[in-house]
This record gives sequence, C-alpha cells and structure tokens, in this order.
Amino acid sequence: VSDMLVDSFGRFHTYLRISLTERCNLRCQYCMPSEGVELTPKPQLLSQSEIVRLAGLFVSSGVNKIRLTGGEPTVRKDIEEICMQLSSLKGLKNLAITTNGITLARKLPKLKECGLDSINISLDTLVPAKFEFLTRRKGHERVMQSIDFAIALGYNPVKVNCVVMRGLNDDEICDFVELTRDKPINVRFIEFMPFDGNVWNVKKLVSYAEMMDKVVKRFPSIKRVQDHPTETAKNFTIDGHCGSVSFITSMTEHFCSGCNRLRLLADGNFKVCLFGPSEVSLRDPIRSGADDETLREIIGAAVKRKKAAHAGMLDIAKTANRPMIHIGG
Ligand code: GTP
Ligand code: 5AD
Ligand code: SF4
Repeated sequence: VSDMLVDSFGRFHTYLRISLTERCNLRCQYCMPSEGVELTPKPQLLSQSEIVRLAGLFVSSGVNKIRLTGGEPTVRKDIEEICMQLSSLKGLKNLAITTNGITLARKLPKLKECGLDSINISLDTLVPAKFEFLTRRKGHERVMQSIDFAIALGYNPVKVNCVVMRGLNDDEICDFVELTRDKPINVRFIEFMPFDGNVWNVKKLVSYAEMMDKVVKRFPSIKRVQDHPTETAKNFTIDGHCGSVSFITSMTEHFCSGCNRLRLLADGNFKVCLFGPSEVSLRDPIRSGADDETLREIIGAAVKRKKAAHAGMLDIAKTANRPMIHIGG
C-alpha cells in the first residue's frame, strides 16, 4: 500500500472533496462578494474524464468517501454521469453532495439512481425575506421543499448546514432546533469562517459556547453523543426529537488533529487544508501527459507538506485564501 495519503503527522486521508464548478445559482454573503468572483475559463476547468481519473487515483490509494461541492455542484450539466462513474469506483463507500437545494428536488431522483449516498443542504434562515437578503436571490421555498423531498427519498439523516452570523440569524437557532423534533434531519450550526471577499469580522462570529448557551436553556435534555475522530461536527440528541443537532466549531475549537480531508478544486488545483493557502495544480501535469506514478508523487508531496493545524482564527482572517465559492467548504 502506498503512503501517498499519509501526512507527516500520521493522518490518513480517506475523504476527498471535489468542487465540480465555480458557478452558483445563489450569491451568499458569507461565500462571495456582491460583485461575484472571477470565473476560471471553462477550458481550464477539469473535464469529466480528468475528474474521474484523479478520483480513481485517490480511491485506489485509500480514499473511501467523496463529497461533491462547488460553487453549486448541481449546476454542472454532467453531474449525473460524474456521479455514475464515481459511484462505480471500487473502494468508494460513500458518495455525498453539499448543495444549496435550489434545484435539488428536480435532480435528486436521477442523482440517487446514479449512486448518490448522502446529502447536506445549506439553509441559514427560516425567514424568506432574510433568505433573500443573505443569498441575494429568491428560493427559500424551494430549499425547504428539497429538504422534505430528500427525506421522502430515504436520505437519513439529511444534514442541514446553518452558518450562524450575529445580527442575522442568531435569533433563529432555537427555531432550527425545533425542526429536529419531527424531521429526521441533522441541523448543524456552523461558526462563521473568514474567506476572501466575505467581510468576516470577529464580531459577527457567534461561538459554539454562545450558541450552546441558547440551546440548553430551551432544550435542557440535550446530550452529547460520541462522534468519530475524523468528524467536523460535535453531535447532540434531544429527548423526543427524531432528528439531531450538531456544531461545527472551526473557529473556537478546531478539529485539525483528526483531519482526514483533501480537496480537488474545479480548476484542478489540489488543496490539502481548507485554510492553507498552498495549492498545487494536478490539471497541468495531466495535460502535459503525466502518468499515474508522476501524479501520485505530486499528490504525495503535497500531502506531506500539510500543516498540523490552521493558524488560529485571527491569523486565518489575515492570510490570503480563495473565496469560499472556489473552495466549496
Ligand atoms: P460530512 O462529510 O457529512 O461530515 O460533512 P462536512 O461537514 O465535512 O461537509 P459540509 O460540506 O457539509 O460542510 C459543513 C461545514 O464544515 C462547512 O462550513 C465546511 O466549510 C466545514 N468543513 C468541511 N470540511 C472542513 C475541514 O476540513 N476543516 C474545517 N475547518 N472545516 C471544514
Ligand atoms: N463560514 C462557514 N461555513 C461556510 N459555508 C460557506 N461559507 C462559509 C463560511 N464563511 C458553508 C455553507 C455550505 C458549506 C459547504 O460551507 O453553508 O453548507
Ligand atoms: Fe483539516 Fe485544515 Fe480544516 Fe484543520 S483547517 S480540519 S487541517 S482542512
């Protein structure tokens, strides 16, 4: 077995996030500036066959979970064929997607047939007018329907990602928790993270401790459940609720020591840490004819350069990174 995916701290990377596109049908404030971002010209994006070839290399080296991200992954026209090819890679156990849910209801039956195993849907507010403010587009009703549709198709749990921002949606935390009473969803409250162009500042960050304070007051039976060491989320159950609640605490209690994630961006750059600015192109060597062995060497060397942890919240806020829309979370 090759050690291509083992870093210098002994972390074995079994989870690859692939961004399928830089485009999106929403304009979320926490993800991109209002003027949008510059898009990589299409010929410079990875083609379907390049994605499948690279994914195959990763899976044959130990990756067993792939998450499709974006931009919004469902705006890529060949997503169904990509799913079909990825889900048939031998050794892959889970094919997942993170989506904004805008067009999901229409596309989901086909995606399910093509082998999609799990779904995370972004939803930051239960108030339609706030949705429009936050995403700079309409569509709240469609996202709510997509969540129910995913449940109806048997996805369990459907994870609902809620990025909490002070003054915007921090008054809705308990309303989101209330949704878990009757729906088999896992609501995940995410600490607001800094990326280029998303006007992050520490005052808008609502910490895990502060969120938990609010939740405990209304739901005193909340209990921590054991989570897997490679998980980003701290998970909780509440008596009488069929769903569950989690917190993703990247800012105040990072989980880098258990990190098992790698990222392939839509332009073919390979990124070993969400907050690490260092990237290496896999597209360029592919297009100049590199064989699998050469690609493995490039990937292995990048993994070995991965740092132990991100540099702390004030440092990552100062370090140039890409806008979130290019990274996909
Ligand atoms: P699961 O695969 O279901 O565990 O989901 P996930 O949490 O890994 O992925 P998702 O795309 O739903 O992202 C939820 C939040 O977790 C987003 O804010 C991501 O940016 C964040 N996240 C995902 N991976 C990492 C990571 O490696 N490091 C950090 N710090 N945050 C991450
Ligand atoms: N901070 C935290 N989470 C974010 N996401 C997007 N931008 C940010 C940010 N600045 C989340 C989205 C999506 C996931 C991929 O990342 O809500 O669910
Ligand atoms: Fe992994 Fe980097 Fe996220 Fe830490 S910040 S969990 S090392 S991707």
